[in-house]
Amino acid sequence: MILSLIRQHPRLALVLGLLLLLGVGALVGGVFLLSRSYAAPPQPLVYQHQKHIAAGATCLYCHAGASSGAVAGLPSLAKCMGCHTNVQPKDPADQRDIDKLIEYWEAKKPVQWVKINDQPDFVQFNHRPHVAAGVACESCHGNISQMNYAQPYNLNMGFCLDCHRKQAPEKVKRLIDCATCHY
Ligand code: HEC
Ligand code: HEC
Ligand code: HEC
Ligand code: HEC
Ligand code: HEC
Repeated sequence: MILSLIRQHPRLALVLGLLLLLGVGALVGGVFLLSRSYAAPPQPLVYQHQKHIAAGATCLYCHAGASSGAVAGLPSLAKCMGCHTNVQPKDPADQRDIDKLIEYWEAKKPVQWVKINDQPDFVQFNHRPHVAAGVACESCHGNISQMNYAQPYNLNMGFCLDCHRKQAPEKVKRLIDCATCHY
């Protein structure tokens, strides 16, 4: 059927070929985009943001460095154990993951968390001025309170500059100066 159509209209083959290419392109592109924006690498211990924020923990409780300096930092196991000597998870099956945390703690094993967001060394990022100016964590990291696992977010130069250009006019010149972020 298609073959006889193509024989009658040779151009149809070209059109069908192009459509096929477009389809394959969109599929590959889609898979690439998904893998870029949603892939969280496996971590050595289970830690789910969503459950902890829902239980009332605040970002700065675990990432205190963000208000005082460049690096937000990750919580120590001692901080996890501050709660986990007596937490009953809602789902009893989760106790297995908590037991693994306790195992690490008792063996004094350091946790090698896999980095999610990593800027190249020639970029100088600093959390402090952002937190001081009231920029929400979510504007740069996405809605972590809804994520089980922290996901990489689009922290490229255009993203930084878009927001810097929207700041008070007298500040914009400095905020988009190359030397503000590259030195
Ligand atoms: C109870 C402690 C705790 C709380 C509360 C917490 N986090 Fe985290 N956060 C962690 C741990 C542990 C990791 C490392 C594991 C991971 O990347 O998922 C992490 C990872 C992250 C990362 C990825 C770090 C990287 O490698 O780039 C971001 C971003 C982040 N948290 C933001 C937030 C924000 C925003 C909030 C508040 C909405 C928050 N966190 C609340 C413990 C916490
Ligand atoms: C203006 C954008 C921006 C805001 C606002 C912001 N972050 Fe970040 N955050 C970044 C960037 C960029 C990195 C990667 C830094 C690097 O690789 O040097 C990062 C890295 C992190 C990391 C992992 C590396 C580290 O610094 O320890 C954590 C955890 C984190 N942010 C948590 C937070 C929390 C919690 C808040 C809110 C209190 C917050 N961030 C607000 C942009 C932001
Ligand atoms: C502020 C107190 C607090 C801190 C700090 C805290 N947790 Fe929790 N954690 C909880 C509560 C409450 C629950 C139960 C939540 C639920 O069942 O919905 C929980 C549940 C869990 C669970 C079981 C649920 C799951 O996702 O499998 C694991 C694993 C866990 N926490 C790991 C950690 C790790 C690792 C740290 C340190 C990075 C940490 N917690 C720090 C309060 C805390
Ligand atoms: C959502 C808005 C927003 C985004 C996104 C953002 N910034 Fe900012 N940035 C600010 C604000 C607001 C200030 C503080 C301006 C002030 O009041 O001094 C600031 C200040 C800074 C400063 C300190 C400048 C100085 O001289 O005081 C640096 C460095 C900086 N940002 C780097 C970055 C980088 C790198 C990124 C991207 C990874 C980024 N910012 C993304 C809003 C943003
Ligand atoms: C607000 C912060 C900020 C300012 C201001 C800024 N950059 Fe960047 N720049 C970045 C970030 C973040 C990256 C990393 C991009 C990435 O990882 O995709 C970057 C990357 C680059 C790169 C590497 C090429 C690339 O695309 O990865 C060059 C070159 C560069 N910037 C030049 C400049 C020049 C020239 C200026 C001044 C006109 C400037 N930047 C101003 C944040 C900034």
